[in-house]
Amino acid sequence: MSSVAPDNAETTEAWSGPLFDLFVKYRDLTTGGLGAHGEVAMGSNPPRPGERAIDVGCGFGDTTRRLAELVGPEGSVLGVDVSAPFIETARREAGEAGLDNVEFRLADVQALELPQEFDYAFSRMGIMFFANPVAALRNVRAALKPGGRFTAVVWRRKLDNEWVRRAEEIVEEYLDHPEETEEPTCGPGPFSMANADTVSEQLKIAGFEEIGLQRCDLPMKVGADLDQAVEFGMALGPAGEILRLWGDRVDEIRPEISARIRAAIADFEGPDGVYAPASTWILTARTPA
Ligand SMILES: C[S@@+](CC[C@H](N)C(=O)[O-])C[C@H]1O[C@@H](n2cnc3c(N)ncnc32)[C@H](O)[C@@H]1O
Repeated sequence: MSSVAPDNAETTEAWSGPLFDLFVKYRDLTTGGLGAHGEVAMGSNPPRPGERAIDVGCGFGDTTRRLAELVGPEGSVLGVDVSAPFIETARREAGEAGLDNVEFRLADVQALELPQEFDYAFSRMGIMFFANPVAALRNVRAALKPGGRFTAVVWRRKLDNEWVRRAEEIVEEYLDHPEETEEPTCGPGPFSMANADTVSEQLKIAGFEEIGLQRCDLPMKVGADLDQAVEFGMALGPAGEILRLWGDRVDEIRPEISARIRAAIADFEGPDGVYAPASTWILTARTPA
């Protein structure tokens, strides 16, 4: 792999180990749930046939493969991610799908210098974990040709992602962030770009122009049933992160926390599973022409 910025080393460890394992375990909920938001973003600002695109923080490469369909055989897509197991899975699945206009690179976007050859950059929830977001966004901007387009999906505020907020509030009644933990943390975290002023300023300082934020509200499946939704809420997101960092030191209180979360999100359960309101920003920007 090209080098990892020292301040992203711990995040890299988290995404290469425990968070990768959780994303595999809950893949239908994570990538499936985010799928609708990603599709709206890509659908309203798609790459054009024949273009060269980059997928930032590509994870399993689901969106990289989707971009490959959109740019077609005359175009090509590079998926970049800092986590080796995500990249290995992405390469394998793209190979199995028989795609020959896709490649993947294991790299920290914050430390990556790419040739200025891309027409379009995309990210679905892959840009909130950089220790230095401006440096990473500057690298994305530098890889885009003049007039190149960038589209990304990031979480909006927790207040409008109620299932996350309710679980976190309950966990925080019992636990702070532990001062000592052997578990790696995931950096600034999934909600680090929720503030419209902050993220638009980051994009501006990174050299982007015509910055736009479109609010996207779509329900997200957070469990096939209430049992899975509680398990999911206690495994990922801010509540899951606190519990993961405490590990087995808090096993005694887990059943009580689980019961409280279950009661708090029961209203999201319907005949087809547990669907909670989810709210994201679709970010759009251009490089100067
Ligand atoms: C929430 S996941 C989203 C994955 C994928 N885009 C999707 O929608 O399924 C965040 C991804 O960002 C990647 N990531 C985090 N920090 C990164 C960095 N500094 N450089 C490149 N990728 C990074 C993680 O490894 C992870 O795959």
